[in-house]
Amino acid sequence: MAFNTKRFINDKVKEIKNKVGNARALCATSGGVDSMVCAFLAYRALGKNLIALFIDDGLMRKNEPLTVATMLRKRGIRTVVIRAAKDFFRALKGKEDPEDMRKAFRDTFYKTLGKAVKKYKADYLIQGTIAADIEETKGKIKSQHNVLSQIGINPKKYGLSIIEPLVKLYKPGVRKVGKGLGLPKAIYQRMPFPGPGLATRVVGEVTPPRVKIVRKATSIVEKELKKFKPFQAFAVLLRDRATGIKKGKRAFGNIIIIRSVESKDALTATPTKIPYTVLEKIQKRIVREIPQVTKVLYDISPKPPSTIEYI
Ligand code: XMP
Repeated sequence: MAFNTKRFINDKVKEIKNKVGNARALCATSGGVDSMVCAFLAYRALGKNLIALFIDDGLMRKNEPLTVATMLRKRGIRTVVIRAAKDFFRALKGKEDPEDMRKAFRDTFYKTLGKAVKKYKADYLIQGTIAADIEETKGKIKSQHNVLSQIGINPKKYGLSIIEPLVKLYKPGVRKVGKGLGLPKAIYQRMPFPGPGLATRVVGEVTPPRVKIVRKATSIVEKELKKFKPFQAFAVLLRDRATGIKKGKRAFGNIIIIRSVESKDALTATPTKIPYTVLEKIQKRIVREIPQVTKVLYDISPKPPSTIEYI
């Protein structure tokens, strides 16, 4: 049966209203498409009884805390930015194994939300988990940050009752709901952005200086590839380094990967066929604007066998 967007929205709005009643609920958004659409769906149901949280975990893209908070506030959603970078970097310190990093992120994320639920006297957390997140976590591909009860973790551990209105949908369905809610394309066509943020794009230890490098490189990649409208485009910082020449001197510097993929639902993906001249321009900008980087590579791996992110 074809997906009926209007009916889906009406049903979910009713469901959320029935569950939350006159209580208050929180939702958290990373600025990616799922959590943004979820926030607006919850707002339609709850109005002033919804508070959107943007957790500034130190792992977000350039200007995102302000961009996302503005998008939400402009449309009437009460929005709070929680500064928690120190907690996240402390939890990630010394961790290099991708699954250890993901679990440390998830634990800090839900502890932060647990505190917020108490502070704002909310009864529920509404989150934008989608079907693909659950499949990948259950399939042991990677532990998505927002999957708990489906793998036997009781949200009560964090003092949370969770509602997941998008849990049966895949990415194209989420975008239809965004459009059906009357949101501008800039919101429902947003690139997916993973909850654990730039931590999924740093191979090796996630430290503030290393995140700073990947954030700068990401902003260059996103800007230069915007016109190709890729499904997702970003930069990755490797743990390996490579010898190069900076200001006429030997430098053993960092390696940045350019990653850009085409996909419908993120379950499979193919690399974007970027013109060589554009890749050259990105390479030049990255080594010029980020002194620590000596080498830039383009990743031509599809999913499978690669995943989209690096950890
Ligand atoms: P992978 O790397 O598994 O990513 O091919 C598939 C899609 O999911 C996003 N992603 C995440 N989203 N929490 C999220 O909300 C996560 O922990 C997470 N890990 C990956 C990724 O950006 C891609 O769109």
